[in-house]
Amino acid sequence: MGILTDTTHLHITTWVVAVILFLVAAFMQRDSKGRKIVHMVLRLFYVLIIITGLALFIEWSSSDPMTYGIKFLLGLLTIGMMEMVLIRSKKQKPVTMFWALFVLFLLATMFIGFMLPVGLDFF
Ligand code: HEM
Repeated sequence: MGILTDTTHLHITTWVVAVILFLVAAFMQRDSKGRKIVHMVLRLFYVLIIITGLALFIEWSSSDPMTYGIKFLLGLLTIGMMEMVLIRSKKQKPVTMFWALFVLFLLATMFIGFMLPVGLDFF
């Protein structure tokens, strides 16, 4: 599965696009048609993040299952928080805590991701 597992480029592309779409949707007018469409495309990108992340996970996780497991979980939690912010704000419920958790999980996911050996290795 070369293209999915030799580098992390595809995985990085999918989550960067998703974060941008999330921010765009979050700052669009609550009930606008545009926001519905951006949210729909964002959900497609969740699937792409998971497919590209899962491919890397299957290929590389045996070297350090614990850290890779945490990375997997944090990635899913980050996606979960994006959904919580968008759905709760649509229902006009408070979202401050979910914004905070989104930022926290995003930073933690990026930290673990860049710490792991494949692709970029900042930490
Ligand atoms: C919004 C969610 C996510 C973000 C922000 C994110 C972020 C990152 C980052 C920054 C890297 C490091 C890339 C590199 O070193 O070049 C990475 C790698 C990786 N991600 Fe994700 N990720 C997310 C979701 C997921 C999910 C859901 C999974 C599992 C299904 C996953 C599995 C992996 C794996 C296995 C790696 C390779 C780690 C390595 O060996 O270096 N990620 N991710």
